[in-house]
Amino acid sequence: MQKTRNSWWQTRVIYQIYPRSFADASGDGVGDLGGITDRLDYLEWLGVDAVWLSPFYPSPMADFGYDVADYCDVDSLFGTLEDFDALLNEAHRRGIRLIVDLVPNHTSDEHPWFVESRASRENPKRDWYIWRDPAPDGGPPKNWESVHGGGSCWEWDENTSQYYLHTFQVGQPDLNWRNPEVREAMYGVMRFWLDRGVDGFRIDALSFCIKDEKFRDNPSNPEWRPGDQLGLRQLRVHSDDRPGIHEVVREMRAVTDAYDGERALIGELYLPLERLMRYYGTELDGVHLPLNFGLVVLPEWESGAIGPLVEQYEAALVEGAWPNWVLGNHDNPRIASRLGRERARAAQMLLLTLRGTPTCYYGDEIGMQDGEIPPERIQDPQGRADPAYNRDPARTPMQWNADANAGFCPEKVDPWLPFAGDHAKTNVEAQKDDPRSMLALVRRLIELRRTLPALAIGAYRPLETGDASVLSYLREYGDQRVLVVLNFSAEHKTLDLSGAGDRGEVLCSTHLDRTHPLGLEKLSVRPGEGILASLRIGA
Ligand code: NOJ
Repeated sequence: MQKTRNSWWQTRVIYQIYPRSFADASGDGVGDLGGITDRLDYLEWLGVDAVWLSPFYPSPMADFGYDVADYCDVDSLFGTLEDFDALLNEAHRRGIRLIVDLVPNHTSDEHPWFVESRASRENPKRDWYIWRDPAPDGGPPKNWESVHGGGSCWEWDENTSQYYLHTFQVGQPDLNWRNPEVREAMYGVMRFWLDRGVDGFRIDALSFCIKDEKFRDNPSNPEWRPGDQLGLRQLRVHSDDRPGIHEVVREMRAVTDAYDGERALIGELYLPLERLMRYYGTELDGVHLPLNFGLVVLPEWESGAIGPLVEQYEAALVEGAWPNWVLGNHDNPRIASRLGRERARAAQMLLLTLRGTPTCYYGDEIGMQDGEIPPERIQDPQGRADPAYNRDPARTPMQWNADANAGFCPEKVDPWLPFAGDHAKTNVEAQKDDPRSMLALVRRLIELRRTLPALAIGAYRPLETGDASVLSYLREYGDQRVLVVLNFSAEHKTLDLSGAGDRGEVLCSTHLDRTHPLGLEKLSVRPGEGILASLRIGA
């Protein structure tokens, strides 16, 4: 059960770091833990107070670290366990919480557990993974397709003449979560990191851990069209989000709750609303934050679509369940490419003023856009299978300054991915000195969120604007009332919001150029503009 109303994971901003791409201290062109430690001052300055690290564990990098070969160590590419401890201590010294990635659904095929499991059918770890005999025709046992490429999820093992299941890459065999030994082993992994002092886990591919007992074939997706992502060709009704998963989630929560200091569980879950909600647990004994990707998967960024999305989400939350919002991550195109840089400002205002914990993706705060990756430099396995869905563009190195290698790595080495190409202007150093920059906007919004309880924990109340292309809402707490107006359209709008009050004091606007009190009766909002204002209650 939740103990307090407002824990850190409710009030703070979470910042996702993709360690390969943040900062390279060792000088090999790949980011590392030392690089992150070196940049903690920046995160503190930005106001970020919780960081989630994508995997840094030993890995053959078939899926860039989401194929873990040892859950309790650091890949030499990223540093050592001592570097991790130093990062954790330095983060905590600054009041920054640290969340690590837990990848429970699968290991790397180089993990010693799998090496044993595939050694023979009699091996004690055989049942730690999912092995099946071939279909009568000798082919894969079932029709399940990989999330990453559309090919079969089943890989033939010549040595033991059976297929093993891999929901993602061939090098990512799925663990058998129906085996109690597997559960205990993974809970041991959680304790290893909790004992070291981490503040929680972002749990990868959580809903996939339990599969249909009979491994029934999945139906094809009637909405899938050629050109759509291959991984969406089937409806994964039998291989994802099976009822038994909630017992696993409860057990993970019990492991976490045995520790002091409010450790948090954040679940990666691409699910429709009502199924997503179940991951809070019937007694709020599930994950603290089932990630809400509503804005990430939203096809059209129109205010008319966002309002209902927020309202449906708010309405679906059960009492005590804490909301959260995400704009981007390492698996999806960047927001500044989806919307363009100007509208991306309004999107940041949305993210940082909605009710619920926001997760910010590194580089979005300076408006980084997707990089162009020449075909011969594609790294992402999903991108190699299906270049239209290459995830590298959103994973390009962080742009710190205008130097040849953007301050990410020394000039004499090649970064592991090319830069997004505009780092002469889009970089931290330049934007830090520019009071109208995207960075200045994001920092101001985070500051307001930290200082105004209405934004951090206040209620959400939608406002009728009379124009579906403008989104407006109030955040209210005690006698604090904050108005948000977001014009995602390409046109000037004049609105009558006098129902919410007569006048407002501007706290922040996306263009960072509004200073005058706001008349609410005839409020003129520019294309792509967002405004945040405080209203007097009773005004
Ligand atoms: C989700 C992760 O975010 C993604 O990067 C990865 O490829 C899959 N899970 C498999 O671990």
